[in-house]
Amino acid sequence: MQVTGKTVQEIYNAGSNKTHHINWCVRSEAVAPDGVMREMVLVNGEFPGPTIRAKRGDVLKIHVQNDLAAFNQSTSIHFHGLFQRGMNAMDGVPGVTQCGIPAGEDFCYVFDLTQSGTFWWHSHSRLQRIDGMFGGLIVYDPEEAYVLGRDYDEEIFIVLHDHYYDLGDANMNWYLSKESAGFEPVPNNVLINGQGVTECDRIPNRYSCKRGRPRLPKFQFERGRKYRLRILNASAFAEIDFSIDDHVLNIIEVDSTEVEEFSMHSIAISPGQRYSVIVEADSNFESVYMRANMQNTCFQYRPYGYRSDLSIVVEYSSSLTTAFTQMARLLFRRWMPPTGTLSSRWSDVLPPDECVDLDVVSLKPKIAVPAPEPDVRYVISPKTMQFDRMHLAPFAFVNRTSFLPAIGAPNLHVALGLVNASDTVPVPTVSGRQNTAHWGGDQLVTEIPLGNVVELIINNDDDSAHPFHLHGHDFAILRVYAETKAGIGKWRPEYVSSYVLDNPLRRDVVTIPKLGHAVIRFRADNPGVWAFHCHISWHLAAGMMMQFAVGVSTIDHSGVTNQMLEHCAMERDLGTKLLRPLPGDEMRKDHRTA
Ligand code: C2O
Ligand code: CU
Repeated sequence: MQVTGKTVQEIYNAGSNKTHHINWCVRSEAVAPDGVMREMVLVNGEFPGPTIRAKRGDVLKIHVQNDLAAFNQSTSIHFHGLFQRGMNAMDGVPGVTQCGIPAGEDFCYVFDLTQSGTFWWHSHSRLQRIDGMFGGLIVYDPEEAYVLGRDYDEEIFIVLHDHYYDLGDANMNWYLSKESAGFEPVPNNVLINGQGVTECDRIPNRYSCKRGRPRLPKFQFERGRKYRLRILNASAFAEIDFSIDDHVLNIIEVDSTEVEEFSMHSIAISPGQRYSVIVEADSNFESVYMRANMQNTCFQYRPYGYRSDLSIVVEYSSSLTTAFTQMARLLFRRWMPPTGTLSSRWSDVLPPDECVDLDVVSLKPKIAVPAPEPDVRYVISPKTMQFDRMHLAPFAFVNRTSFLPAIGAPNLHVALGLVNASDTVPVPTVSGRQNTAHWGGDQLVTEIPLGNVVELIINNDDDSAHPFHLHGHDFAILRVYAETKAGIGKWRPEYVSSYVLDNPLRRDVVTIPKLGHAVIRFRADNPGVWAFHCHISWHLAAGMMMQFAVGVSTIDHSGVTNQMLEHCAMERDLGTKLLRPLPGDEMRKDHRTA
């Protein structure tokens, strides 16, 4: 993951509008990222999945072959952070912009890269993302505010990730049962670039656990050089705190928005978010620790083998001791602990006791854009709930709707009149029916005229934080408020005077603190049906999603190919067989007949 400046320079120098032909095969495989063997859903057998590096203006052609044989599991790929302007059909969200790519079938995502920055891709189907199906997407632009050669010399891509020992589906089964008492499954471990440390003695026997030297990523700093670290939190659930002992993190990018340099000793990153930081290798230590700590306080229990911290050695390559260690490794083929004096954690890096983002007021976009005046304003509230009548299984809502992807009738196709919402295979659900005239049940779709500026007030009535992600656009954050006393954290009209209107931070994932609220605005200038959802996998899978149908009459029909329509027909044929049954489905059924 450590790429040399030379690689980046080559991308800068490459001719423009290059087409990248990428072939991906999705398969289920048994691997042991931290020593514990488990089944994962992987692209080309890699974990994390392949990192795509390209230049703004390039075209990506990603051919995806779905070889997930078990459970007729369909798949999809979403390119998180790309607006896919005018190309809604390429957004990769089953039930919203496409039907899943059925098992045994293939599909080619084709689109051009009109933005630059740190993005990522992941499956948007079921719980495949947390079973390992994700990777980085970095788009370079020699005209960016921070460039190689002037602002930094080398680049390192760092993927932080919470890791579970059981399949997403198994964990989801548990979450949707009354046994969970509404508590989300808590990850067993934290990984950096898909690797971590485990203690086999703390792992139940039913898992096979490899003892011995842990496989860990290796990072090297050369004294005097500047490194751009692109950091992604790909977690299902965990907010992760990132720091490097004795090194200052100069934040320059927030979810692909370049910002004025802002220095911190550690950054808290929510699922889906990215930061770039510039780090100067100016330490006197011969090696230091890079640390990833999961935010414990947001977990309700501790699973077996639980480890919330991972420290990885960053070695200074110029030091003699390093050379010695490397030689010793070669000679004795064994793992050597880091040499020299050990660095320690920044003393001011105290874990915050809540899952909250970095303060939005401190982060100022390089390209200043004042907050646009809103044309429409909506108040929404995400909520997880358990009902007696539903056997206390948790469901997640935005307002009164708990989202379920419509089978065979994605909303983009509904919007274009290619299919009727009623053509979907009926699945029993808990939602209050919304928009029944046009959109299906379990769909909260808000129609926005093209070009309108939308203000969203998001009141979080839940006792846990929700990192919300918008597809097709980024948004300006006018206000984020955390309050610990129930009921007090709701938005109130007098808060309007405290909005950040002059150059607010723009990003694509914002965490709504527990019992708090956030106010965001975006210009709906991209025709299509765009998801807006919590990026915590458990909440999303339990239904925490709404959608914006932007400029419906101007959506381009040609984006939806015949192959996409065929996939939908196949999906309708398979019907509910497509879904591996969840206990939740049973309960939903009960409810329907009740
Ligand atoms: Cu990164 Cu809809 O997701
Ligand atoms: Cu959530």
